[in-house]
Amino acid sequence: MNRRDNRRRLPLLTDHIGGRSQLTCLYRCGDACSHPVPNTSDNPYMGDLIASAVSRRGLFKAGAAVTVGAGAAGALGNAAYASEADAQASAFWGSVPRGLRFDAVAPNTDDAVTIPDGYEQQVVIRWGDPILDDVNDFDPEAQTPADAAGQFGYNCDFLALLDLPGERRRKVLVANHEYTSEEMMHFGYDSAAPTREQVEIGWASHGLSVVVLDEDKHTGDLTPVVGHELNRRITATSEFVLSGPAAGGDLLKTTADAEGTLALGTLNNCAGGVTPWGTILSGEENFNQYFANAGQVTDPTAKARLARYGLSGNASERKWEQYDPRFDVLQEPNEPNRFGWIVELDPYDPDWTPRKRTALGRFKHEGAGPRVDRYGRVVVYMGDDERFDYMYKFVSKHKMKSGSGRTAREHNRKLLDEGTLYVAKFTGDSPGEIDGTGALPEDGAFDGTGEWIKLASGDESFVDGMTAEEVYVFTRLAGDKVGATKMDRPEDVEVNPKTGKVYAALTNNSQRGTAGKAGADEANPRNSNKHGHVLELEERQNDVAATAFGWRLLLVCGDPEDPSTYFSGYPKEKVSPISCPDNVAFDPQGNLWISTDGNALGANDGLFGVSLTGPTRGLTKQFLTVPLGAETCGPVVQDRHILVAVQHPGEVDGASAETPASQWPDGPEGTLPRPSVVNVVKERFGSIGC
Ligand code: FEO
Ligand code: CA
Ligand code: CA
Repeated sequence: MNRRDNRRRLPLLTDHIGGRSQLTCLYRCGDACSHPVPNTSDNPYMGDLIASAVSRRGLFKAGAAVTVGAGAAGALGNAAYASEADAQASAFWGSVPRGLRFDAVAPNTDDAVTIPDGYEQQVVIRWGDPILDDVNDFDPEAQTPADAAGQFGYNCDFLALLDLPGERRRKVLVANHEYTSEEMMHFGYDSAAPTREQVEIGWASHGLSVVVLDEDKHTGDLTPVVGHELNRRITATSEFVLSGPAAGGDLLKTTADAEGTLALGTLNNCAGGVTPWGTILSGEENFNQYFANAGQVTDPTAKARLARYGLSGNASERKWEQYDPRFDVLQEPNEPNRFGWIVELDPYDPDWTPRKRTALGRFKHEGAGPRVDRYGRVVVYMGDDERFDYMYKFVSKHKMKSGSGRTAREHNRKLLDEGTLYVAKFTGDSPGEIDGTGALPEDGAFDGTGEWIKLASGDESFVDGMTAEEVYVFTRLAGDKVGATKMDRPEDVEVNPKTGKVYAALTNNSQRGTAGKAGADEANPRNSNKHGHVLELEERQNDVAATAFGWRLLLVCGDPEDPSTYFSGYPKEKVSPISCPDNVAFDPQGNLWISTDGNALGANDGLFGVSLTGPTRGLTKQFLTVPLGAETCGPVVQDRHILVAVQHPGEVDGASAETPASQWPDGPEGTLPRPSVVNVVKERFGSIGC
């Protein structure tokens, strides 16, 4: 019996954390949910009660009327919404903003990408598709490290789709490859004794891809241009310059790099952003899982620092330390300090070595949301994706130069090396009313004010007992000391280019309010928060360098029938159920788009459009669903393209290369499920949602 005949369909997602499978937790974040929460600081969470006495009500004026509608259908049953919308389309579109005029997709558990009627989809590129010349086609039974380093990597996450000036109908795609799932990639994989070749394929399958695409002007199809001069792979062994104020410091020096200025590779690149000067930012997230033997470190300071970043235990899951000692912290104690940064890559300049930007701090970076204001000042918003961790921003010292000439480009590629790093503290304005159930306070909103607390600027530290270098390298500890607000897994934080308002996805936190852990506060208002929420933040006077801001929750996610959910007062019977928001993006009209990770309502993950203004504020519509076991990542929402990264299709408990749980994207003729990028266009390549 050959392998394909031997396939069996596995049961649906088992309930690990949210809807995520044990396998995903293991390989993606080193099983973070099963380990103790790294933030054990006593950094106060009752600050709401104290500070609200001086809160300045009215800083934030985006008031939405509160009319909590009655839910009419369960999470999977809300499909009624889509058919109702169909039937009432002409009347309905009259009140729906441009960009969101499509028939919502019903929640499902299909092994497919499901899109609205009137739209078409195309797989742009899959794990293993060659992007460089002289690379063999994908063959999972004959993969080599050299082939993998010339092919599209595994588990695509963040995506950027950029113009390519000077080449007609061509685009540049940049993708992160967050992590590898060896049991899903290799037949006969033995997790206790991986071979050198398997490990090196893992190194080559991490990182980023840059791929030029041809765009068909009639259909909108996007096709890789194999061997284009801009195409490149960045992997776990590529060179990176460590730059900014912590570069060259003792904390970053290793045997191989006595100067502390040149790191090899990037790991666990999750979300990211496109800078206004055309480079890509990418967040190194769960880097801790790649390092072995932190549990054997005895020095108390070193041990505490490692623990705050989730480094513990002995052998690592992938056993890379068996083939490269830099992954063993007993041999190279500073090597983990060279990961956990925001990296910057210039997709238009293959000769420019990518940078790790130490001025933006070191933590489990989900992504980076840049904005430039009308004066040219640059801000980058960032989330640290861990339960009870923090939100940050960096404000550049120097202003951006406009234009794309060489002088401007060289100047702008240094902007992220000098500036000030801040962490966020949120203060609710409804003290005493947050009981952890999600019940709205009397003022009808989870809202309040906040403060950006300065951590470091250049060589100057603002944190007692920590040098500036320590603040940058152990930023989590700095946040603990200044009393930053413990959030429910801050993931993507992005700026709406139409308004300058900032949106943060807070994915979930099942431990909120449990014994010994921080309880609910107004910015994280539900205990045992399974479904997450979305926060809207507005800088005072829309100034990127402001140290005061206003905020309110836009969505409190879940089944609309659940009374703890909140859709900014929009009638709940007209919204799609949404759970575990992860990535956020904006369409050209300024609507918010949210992709999900780990739908705890039992359906597959998806992509949702959300209205932010006027009477439809809070309207939430599901645009697509991804296949069984997959996560929706990297949404790009442009006028005529929506791109999503379908990450870890078929990654459900018990699945492996021998027993795949998904046939996506290649169908019965395929060998393995393959993480891939999907392009969705409207029929006749029209404007999406219009
Ligand atoms: Fe890689 Fe926080 O998701
Ligand atoms: Ca309130
Ligand atoms: Ca993510």
